[in-house]
Amino acid sequence: IEVDPFDLVVFGATGDLAYRKLLPALYHRDLDGQLPEDARILACSRRDMSDAEYRARAAEAVREHVSDIEEPALSRFLERLSYLAVDASGERGWEDLAAALEDRPEVIRAFYLAVSPDFFGAICERIGRHGLASDTARIVIEKPIGKDGQSARALNAAIGAVFREDQIFRIDHYLGKETVQNLMALRFANALFEPLWNAAHIDHVQITVAEALGVEGRAGYYDTAGAMRDMLQNHILQLLCLVAMEPPESMDADSVRDEKLKVLKALRPMDPAMVERATVRGQYRAGASAGGAVPGYLEELDDPGSQTETFVALKAEIANWRWANVPFYLRTGKRLADRVSEIVVQFRPIPHSIFEEEAGPISSNRLVIRLQPDEGVRMQIMIKDPGPGGMRLRQVPLDMSFAEAFRVRNPDAYERLLMDVIRGNQTLFMRRDEVEAAWAWVDPILEAWAHLREPPKGYTSGTWGPSAAIALIERDGRTWFEDL
Ligand code: BG6
Repeated sequence: IEVDPFDLVVFGATGDLAYRKLLPALYHRDLDGQLPEDARILACSRRDMSDAEYRARAAEAVREHVSDIEEPALSRFLERLSYLAVDASGERGWEDLAAALEDRPEVIRAFYLAVSPDFFGAICERIGRHGLASDTARIVIEKPIGKDGQSARALNAAIGAVFREDQIFRIDHYLGKETVQNLMALRFANALFEPLWNAAHIDHVQITVAEALGVEGRAGYYDTAGAMRDMLQNHILQLLCLVAMEPPESMDADSVRDEKLKVLKALRPMDPAMVERATVRGQYRAGASAGGAVPGYLEELDDPGSQTETFVALKAEIANWRWANVPFYLRTGKRLADRVSEIVVQFRPIPHSIFEEEAGPISSNRLVIRLQPDEGVRMQIMIKDPGPGGMRLRQVPLDMSFAEAFRVRNPDAYERLLMDVIRGNQTLFMRRDEVEAAWAWVDPILEAWAHLREPPKGYTSGTWGPSAAIALIERDGRTWFEDL
């Protein structure tokens, strides 16, 4: 279905995010007929460039990231693009931008800040000063939103001085992933799970977001962030919220976000002793990946003194009735053995077995929601081994691979999220109080780490992280699932 006409202004239009994600996503939406005839995309960045030059670069970027380009569709898409040199934190180009937008103040106007957060405040102030924050305007920002609670509040205040909260779209691209949305479908469109979705029936939850790549070309940013700020504070806590929240009244943005906020507020705060006991920081050393030998983080960074973590594992608890004493084991890291993200819900053992010992052990049910690489849902159940040999039990997966079930292209998260911005649907975007509540839980952990001054534990590239992360869960008589 077509969205309403819009002007999309992209700051940072010559950056990695624009080339790698935004342009390919917009091309796909255009190809599928979702962009109206007169939708315009205004690309802005600091350097001087003509429309034709920018279109040539954009074409290159789309070709690089999309297979099976349809040439007429690509040409039509490129026609929508125009380029303006605008200095995000200076005065140059702003009059031109105002002039370019002036002819149709009534259409939806979206500003996408695909730039470093250092520029968010300056850009918002200029948007306000030049009278560009029309009633139909909205602004889209990317994480990291701050580096702690205080800086997040300052950033939110600077943006809030120009835009109303219902105009602000804080992207967490994990919320745009198909399987993440499926988590809500699974929980709330099936009768099967919800009655069991609590401490009485669930033993624990694991959330793993493992990457095989290292920091690639982003070491400069990454070294100031680390795995906690880059992944856990946002993506992983958002996943945790969707697993743990109460059923919202509806899919309305505030109903969903109110419930997520309650989960964040119920996270048990960690004191320094808990931080020592229940968190592990790691940093990759040289090792091997699928492509061969790879250097360690410190060599890549060329700074032997960096204590930034490229891996974090921790045990979180949600202090409410539904989740009392159900640990949520969270972990994420770079240069791990595989690229795999999944949520594992481990159910409790059956209360009593009627089977003889020869039947073999009975494994507890496990629900695995896999986000990537191959998206799907799998339920581990016990069955009888076929054949006349008596009652022998075996664990088998009830498997639902989305790629096999639906033979359609899996859209990128940005496609969904960009169209939601135009539609004005904030359900899959983070509200200000959510971001601040997530920092309120993360800040004491970061502070305790800074206080402890313990260097991150080294792990060999291509493994599952430091052995301390394995000990973290095995101490509780449990184990990470890597076999699925
Ligand atoms: C980004 C992080 O938000 O997410 C990156 O900044 C990370 O460090 C990326 O690599 C992972 O996203 P995805 O969609 O590839 O899992």
